[in-house]
Amino acid sequence: MLKNHPSDMIYLNNAATSWPKPPEVCMAITRSLAQPVFGSGRTAGSEGEDYITQAREALVQLFHTGPGENWVFTHNATDALNILIPGFIASAEGPCHVITTALDHNSVLRPLHELERAGRITLTVVPFENAKISPDVVRAAICPETRLVVMSHGSNVLGSVQDIHAIGEILHERGIYFIVDGAQTAGHMPVDLGNLPVDAFIFTGHKALFGVPGTGGFYIRDPSRVGTVRYGGTGTDSFSLFQPDEMPDKYEIGTHNYPGLAALAAGIAFVCSAGTAAIAKKGEQQAAYIISELKKEPNIIIYNETPELPIIAFNIEGMENDDVGFVLARAYGVISRTGLHCAPLVHKTLTNGKGCVRVSPSWFTTDGECRVAVKAIREVAQGANSSLNQA
Ligand SMILES: Cc1ncc(COP(=O)(O)O)c(C=O)c1O
Repeated sequence: MLKNHPSDMIYLNNAATSWPKPPEVCMAITRSLAQPVFGSGRTAGSEGEDYITQAREALVQLFHTGPGENWVFTHNATDALNILIPGFIASAEGPCHVITTALDHNSVLRPLHELERAGRITLTVVPFENAKISPDVVRAAICPETRLVVMSHGSNVLGSVQDIHAIGEILHERGIYFIVDGAQTAGHMPVDLGNLPVDAFIFTGHKALFGVPGTGGFYIRDPSRVGTVRYGGTGTDSFSLFQPDEMPDKYEIGTHNYPGLAALAAGIAFVCSAGTAAIAKKGEQQAAYIISELKKEPNIIIYNETPELPIIAFNIEGMENDDVGFVLARAYGVISRTGLHCAPLVHKTLTNGKGCVRVSPSWFTTDGECRVAVKAIREVAQGANSSLNQA
């Protein structure tokens, strides 16, 4: 049985990019393209929807932060990290030691390793245990030259959420700057940045905020700590041949992705109306159900049995993860994500570098779809088990 038609598909790859999008998001994109763009500050005397301001206000509401100008739009979460990390290092004085974690995504690890290779920082990568980064392990890695910690809030492989409150308090007592990659938590759970000791928080538009790929950005509490690393037109102070220092022009250059930001504003409005607490609860329940079913097969290895996010990572003994993903997709219409998930150090630690299968439901995934998906995974595991026994 081949299931290639989307209506037969059970899409469990939401940790990569969410699908489907709420109808409001699709409509917002269409609406934004149906009229000329009237960007804030860039087109005087015109009327029309200001998607940029709407998106900033939506972020302020969702994350309980201060002014919208402290939210900066970028191409995606990776782009945000590539502005914040080098920007902070450019402004830091003296030798610069940076801490990150083995749970992190390549969008954190690669900018840091490039800076280390260029001799601009020294780097410590702290290990995880039971899918968590212990605040004590971070504390122990701090040295007199430590200026910056960059780490993910939620793991994109293990679905664990880190105690960034406790870690942030340790760092702020010592004046260490704290950048948190919230690509996997934004929209998935309540995040109250007003009460978190975090200096900068990164989000992406296309995952649990239900926007489209090519959108994202960051919140920055005190822009004076992070230098500018990109330069260009802002539509403001245009006689100056230097980048303005005002927010958000300090970091936002060129023409915005207006349809993308219209989608982001609509996606965040959708998340606010559903409620992040309800979204988190549903995700946890579906993850717990999937895990309880997969545990019934002795040859399924689950890498974190208690994820806070709806992300389940597993392997089937006797099968390559890519083959499992292929069979799930082609024979059952279940879309997973296999391989290393851009988190090489997680896999170095847990899967011998081989990778695994990841399934990740979203707010739109039904309990019925979860039941069909676990039945499919269990059948594949049973097939692998009987082949192993016959060999
Ligand atoms: C934890 C984490 N950080 C960063 C990213 C990169 O996000 P983007 O695609 O918006 O650059 C991802 C996406 O997979 C992620 O899971």
